[in-house]
Amino acid sequence: MIRDTRTAPDVNASRQGTLPDAEIAELLAAVSAGEPWSAALERLRLPTLSRKRHWFVNARKADFYRSLETARRDWALDIGPGSAIIAAELARDYTSVIALEHHPLWCRFVGRRFAQDGVHRAFAVQGDAMGLPCREGSIDLAVLNGVLEWIPDAAPRLAPRSAQLACLREIRRALRPGGALGIAIENRWFFGNFMGLSPHGEPPFAAVLPRRLADWQSRRRLGRPYRTWIYQAHGYRRLLAAAGFDDVRLYGAMPTYHEPREALALSAREALRPYFASARPAKDAVFALLGRLGLLGQLVHSFYISARRPLVPSPP
Ligand SMILES: C[S@@+](CC[C@H](N)C(=O)[O-])C[C@H]1O[C@@H](n2cnc3c(N)ncnc32)[C@H](O)[C@@H]1O
Repeated sequence: MIRDTRTAPDVNASRQGTLPDAEIAELLAAVSAGEPWSAALERLRLPTLSRKRHWFVNARKADFYRSLETARRDWALDIGPGSAIIAAELARDYTSVIALEHHPLWCRFVGRRFAQDGVHRAFAVQGDAMGLPCREGSIDLAVLNGVLEWIPDAAPRLAPRSAQLACLREIRRALRPGGALGIAIENRWFFGNFMGLSPHGEPPFAAVLPRRLADWQSRRRLGRPYRTWIYQAHGYRRLLAAAGFDDVRLYGAMPTYHEPREALALSAREALRPYFASARPAKDAVFALLGRLGLLGQLVHSFYISARRPLVPSPP
């Protein structure tokens, strides 16, 4: 089932937006010395990771994936597990869970976390999403939670969309026919992006500018290309269809997939509206209007997406 896909970490691949390597190294050193990971996280007061405690412990991050039906519950694959809270939760439902992490420090942390927490059905494997260590048709559920946008960094020779497509096709290969893929990712049309927010440390407006302009701006201001591509709802549907998936469904991850409370249908006007309330009357009136037009679902911060490997292979 498992082959070793270890690769030397490359500089680009270790860029993870907001998670500094030095902090991961400090946390790992404490955990490797025998300190429980949770206590170490508390004690170390790491500038970024200590503020992200919810990222390590919020079991609700796994709810959407645990709700996806699969014919069997033998193998789950969490790609880019990071803190591994999702992989640990999936181990409640699946006989075996592969937590496939390409960052060597995170991978070691994940292994130690599973050991400390007694999560015996999940195991950490160092490898790259571009070449999964799994036989064709062997996986029941694959998860990409906050990872698809970083995939272009792992394949610098490919254009961002081509890298994401190649990764999705590789996941499709690994899934059983009828097996499920679950994704959480930002929405390009999140209303905040039109006001200058940048989801992954890019220059302001990069998400909503035409790609070429965003790339030019990023090279000029940050000295690196713009590769953390995200899409609006229709863009994700097209991407997954091009990768050979069917039964593609999108939901709003509310309020965000980082700290989710619920997954809502994009057409659920009434349920979406409270997430778009503003104390500023003018802004609130705009949200009310967008709600009446049924557009709020297009403007959510992030999506949960499910898709399936078709039961019947599509003609070549
Ligand atoms: C933003 S974090 C998300 C972590 C976790 N899924 C969560 O949501 O809590 C992205 C993770 O994906 C990993 N990653 C990025 N590119 C990867 C690749 N090509 N193969 C495997 N893991 C990758 C990073 O090292 C990091 O742990």
